[in-house]
Amino acid sequence: MRLLVTGGAGFIGSNFILYWLKKYPKDFILNLDKLTYAGNLENLRSVEGSPNYEFVKGDICDGKLVLSLLKEYKIDTIVHFAAESHVDRSILEPAPFVKTNVEGTVILLESALKAKVKRFHHISTDEVFGELSLDSEDKFSENTCYSPRSPYSASKAASDHFVRAFYTTYGLPITISNCSNNFGPYQFPEKLIPLAITNILEGKKVPIYGDGLYVRDWLYVKDHCRAIDLILHKGKVGETYLVGGLTEDIPNIEVVRKILRIMGKGEEWENWVEFVKDRPGHDRRYAIDWSKINRELGWKPKYSFDTALKLTVDWYVKNEVWWRRVKSGEYREYYERQYGE
Ligand code: NAD
Ligand code: TYD
Repeated sequence: MRLLVTGGAGFIGSNFILYWLKKYPKDFILNLDKLTYAGNLENLRSVEGSPNYEFVKGDICDGKLVLSLLKEYKIDTIVHFAAESHVDRSILEPAPFVKTNVEGTVILLESALKAKVKRFHHISTDEVFGELSLDSEDKFSENTCYSPRSPYSASKAASDHFVRAFYTTYGLPITISNCSNNFGPYQFPEKLIPLAITNILEGKKVPIYGDGLYVRDWLYVKDHCRAIDLILHKGKVGETYLVGGLTEDIPNIEVVRKILRIMGKGEEWENWVEFVKDRPGHDRRYAIDWSKINRELGWKPKYSFDTALKLTVDWYVKNEVWWRRVKSGEYREYYERQYGE
């Protein structure tokens, strides 16, 4: 395959590129990334210079660039990760979410159609379905109605609708996956798990929004990469697949307590958390029914939450230089040094 990966310098995109090039060394990947604050090429150092990998700094909203890249590199498959991805930032400033997540996706779709790519795979989120209540055992499935509640999830919902519209209207061969909260190596420490781990390593408290009883479904990023792999190879064009983890309703405060236990601070956990003002419109609970991808493509998560959380804590402990450079902003100089004149 010759893949265009958008947003490949971000958390999931870079994990995906590393996964794919290791498993399919004969394939070629072009990584198109704007390098916003969330893009970090240091994640991809190990593949830099490989003959089957190239990076282009650019914006998915630039249709001319996208189309010329699709043609020049003879791309047959697009895996679309690029997005503004943080709910709290979308609450502070929604417009960039509309620009990249909605407009950028439409521009990519138009270019994909013109270049006649064989597959457009769109990475989306379970947040498009809204929230579930704490006292129910309901889970999101492929049949759940869309009901987004944050500017982030509203923009991702709009992008999903456009992707499906391009399938039904123009016959573009698409697939979509809606996954739950990912965690693992290279996640920007603005999201709960890496923020908690790195704060504790720095001797700082972990901010807990509201009562801390919000529930997320947690998916280890390596399990997610395997799910995308299966969808690209065996998924049915036009279909959507939900991808989730092996968690059973773990409230945020318990996620942080687990991290503290792994880090040997379980006894004193109360000293390490700080309850702070809640997020406006905070979705109470997410849960995923991933039985369709299990039944049709044979996927299931390999990592239990506790195992994956331990691996993740270990990764941040070992890669202190990486996250310290991210927290200090130094990682942003890397592009200039590596690719500048
Ligand atoms: P991230 O914020 O870590 O990375 C996003 C990447 O996209 C960055 O490298 C950034 O530079 C790039 N980018 C942003 N705007 C761009 C533009 N206009 N043109 C080109 N590149 C641009 O995000 P992530 O956590 O890796 O998420 C990847 C995808 O997965 C997103 O579409 C997100 O909505 C979805 N998703 C993420 C999670 C999660 O838990 N992280 C859960 C469900 C779905
Ligand atoms: P986050 O990692 O931002 O992902 P999302 O909002 O996309 O689910 O947040 C995960 C959960 O953790 C969510 O319920 C908000 C909560 N949270 C905190 O309690 N404190 C924090 O500092 C952050 C970033 C999140």
